[in-house]
Amino acid sequence: MINIIGLGPGNTGYITKLGEKLIYSSDVVIGGKRNLESIEDFEGEKIVLSTNLKEILQYIQNNLDKNISVIASGDPSIYGIGRYLSKNIEHKHLNIVSGISSLQYIFSRIFVDMNDVYITSSHGKVPDFDYILSHKKVCMVTDSKIGPHEISREIQKRNLNKTIVVGENLSYKDEKITIGKPEDILAVEKFDMNVVVILDEE
Ligand SMILES: C[S@@+](CC[C@H](N)C(=O)[O-])C[C@H]1O[C@@H](n2cnc3c(N)ncnc32)[C@H](O)[C@@H]1O
Repeated sequence: MINIIGLGPGNTGYITKLGEKLIYSSDVVIGGKRNLESIEDFEGEKIVLSTNLKEILQYIQNNLDKNISVIASGDPSIYGIGRYLSKNIEHKHLNIVSGISSLQYIFSRIFVDMNDVYITSSHGKVPDFDYILSHKKVCMVTDSKIGPHEISREIQKRNLNKTIVVGENLSYKDEKITIGKPEDILAVEKFDMNVVVILDEE
C-alpha cells in the first residue's frame, strides 16, 4: 500500500496516531529532507523527495508491492503531493491520511473560525488579487516571490481595510505570529516560512 501521510505543521506532536503507526510499519519512507529528519528513529529505507516528481512516481509504480509512506507537511491534500499522486496512481493502491494543515493551525492560534474561508496559494503563479481580496476571509500559503509584503502592497493599492496575520514557523519553537495593517507588515524587514490570513474588519 502507498500511504500519503500528513505530518501536521511541523512539531511532531501534531501527527496523527494512525499516521505515525503507518510510517513506522513502512518498508520505505519518502519525503522532503526536513520531514525525513523528523522521523529519525525510523529504521527502514528513507528516500529524499527530489523536485523531479516523475522519478518518485516511477519508483512507486515499480514498487507497488512494498509498504511505502510518502510523508508531507501539513495536510497532503492542501497544496501538497496528494494531488499529484492521486492523479497518477490507481486509487486502489493509495491511502491518504490527513494531517493538520498549517492553515488550520493558524486559525486555531488566532481564535478565528475557518467558516467560509477562501484558501489559496502563491506558489508558482501570479495570484489574481482582485478576486482574492474580494473575499472576507482568506488564507494563503506563500512562497519567496509573493508573501506578506507583496500582499500588503496589493491591499494598499486598492485602499482596502483589511487586517493581515502572518504566521511564521508555525508549531516550531521559533513560531511567530504578527497581526497588523499593511503598513505594520511592511515595516517588518523579513519573514520566515509563513502563511498569511487576510481578514475584513468586523
Ligand atoms: C507546498 S505548501 C504545503 C502546505 C501544507 N500541505 C499544509 O497543509 O500546511 C508549503 C507552504 O505551506 C506553508 N507552511 C507549511 N508549514 C508551515 C509552518 N509550519 N509555518 C508556516 N507556514 C507553513 C508555507 O507557506 C509554505 O511555503
